[in-house]
Amino acid sequence: MNRVILDQRVNAEMIDGLKNNTRALLSFLQNQNEGTIVYVLEKLGRLKNGSSKEPLLSLLNSQNENIRTLSIKNLAKIGDISLLPIFVKYARSDESTEVRRESVSAVGRLRNEKAIPVLIGFLKDNDPKVVMQAIRGLLIFSQREEVEEKLKKMINHPNELIKEVISKEINGVNYGSNNKEKHDEFPTFLKNTIVQGDVMETLNYVPDESVHLTFTSPPYYNARDYSIYQSYNEYLNFLEKVFKEIHRVTKEGRFFVLNTSPIIIPRISRAHSSKRYPIPYDVHPILIKMGWEFIDDIVWVKPEASVKNRNAGFLQHRKPLGYKPNAVSEMIMVYRKKTDKLIDWNIGQYNWDKVKKSKVADKYETTNIWHIGPAFDRVHSAVFPIELCNKVITYYSFVEDLIFDPFAGSGTLGLAAVNLNRHFFLTEKESKYINRMKEDLIKGRRLFDSKNGQPNFVDIKNFISLTKETV
Ligand SMILES: C[S@@+](CC[C@H](N)C(=O)[O-])C[C@H]1O[C@@H](n2cnc3c(N)ncnc32)[C@H](O)[C@@H]1O
Repeated sequence: MNRVILDQRVNAEMIDGLKNNTRALLSFLQNQNEGTIVYVLEKLGRLKNGSSKEPLLSLLNSQNENIRTLSIKNLAKIGDISLLPIFVKYARSDESTEVRRESVSAVGRLRNEKAIPVLIGFLKDNDPKVVMQAIRGLLIFSQREEVEEKLKKMINHPNELIKEVISKEINGVNYGSNNKEKHDEFPTFLKNTIVQGDVMETLNYVPDESVHLTFTSPPYYNARDYSIYQSYNEYLNFLEKVFKEIHRVTKEGRFFVLNTSPIIIPRISRAHSSKRYPIPYDVHPILIKMGWEFIDDIVWVKPEASVKNRNAGFLQHRKPLGYKPNAVSEMIMVYRKKTDKLIDWNIGQYNWDKVKKSKVADKYETTNIWHIGPAFDRVHSAVFPIELCNKVITYYSFVEDLIFDPFAGSGTLGLAAVNLNRHFFLTEKESKYINRMKEDLIKGRRLFDSKNGQPNFVDIKNFISLTKETV
């Protein structure tokens, strides 16, 4: 039976009738295939205390782990303490970790003190998901000394999620911010400011938690002319320092979006091979270690005709190991400054009007593959397509936020920010790219065309004076 036919026959009304009629439900379930049973179990909805348990108990013998899991889940809704031994039995001995996890969750959902010793027992379970459910159940009783003591000891558990829950819920440790400035505000001297200078030097003068969103594309190691590093290690160390500073100046729970891709350093002669550097993969652990939380990996895909052809040789010889795909993708790595506050907290820092004005319009990207053509500039060799900036800004910031690009190049992010009613703060060390931005401004052609977006070009010295003026 396919799903469409099933949905027509087994509708919500029918399921509602069945759940109040034990015998009808029992006989119905006996005659159905597994797909229908799963469907009905998923749609059972609320069950009253006192609902009949038999039909669900009978399904616990099913070979299908999904059916056993959903049966336990539904039994837990009934909230009957007499089910405790059943839950314990499945929590201890079911072969499926999903059924075991759901059973421990069911024990917790009883919210009954008789469950306490059972839940304490599961703190020693081998499966961290089971342990997490036991912790969840015990948190309700954390006022009790014996429970609190047991939970406190869980800070030594090897699992990172367990450690995190315990340090937040029991030990009261959090990643909170000390910043007294309102979350939707930022220091005015940063508003639409473009600093010509080294990013590290500039950031020395930027206060903690000033920026709402950073989107940047750092130098591609030594793959382009504007960046020279003595070694890949030196390059990664440089990025680490910059990313640490970005972390410091980012507001609590806000985002850092990084565009990188593996690069290739060409071979010096036919006797040597070229070298690929997997920048995104090397940068990722560095970011996690310094307190960024990984959120998403978006892949920016360019048309094949726009990238360097690498497989001309392979096209001829077709020998395994010599395969070289054309690299049409770049990574858009999305991180959030680690906090114990939920995204809803961040959203709640804005008034209703700003939230409404920031709503993402229809036709947004529904997957993590974004097809966007590259942009070309006569001065800069690696500019952001404005479409890419538009997407990142609209998905990860609110109107009037401060958007930062430490490696601004031609300043495309600034232009996008202004067009989207945000503010920008940019740093760029090369005068030829700063001049490119100024040229755009003078010609009134594309950059910073709104009144609000009039940029303030400064060198480091003037930037330092600006910071002092506002103190
Ligand atoms: C990949 S490009 C970014 C291009 C930019 N996304 C755009 O749309 O034009 C990297 C930029 O970082 C700049 N840069 C490199 N090291 C820097 C540093 N230490 N401080 C500031 N800018 C730097 C380079 O001059 C280059 O323009």
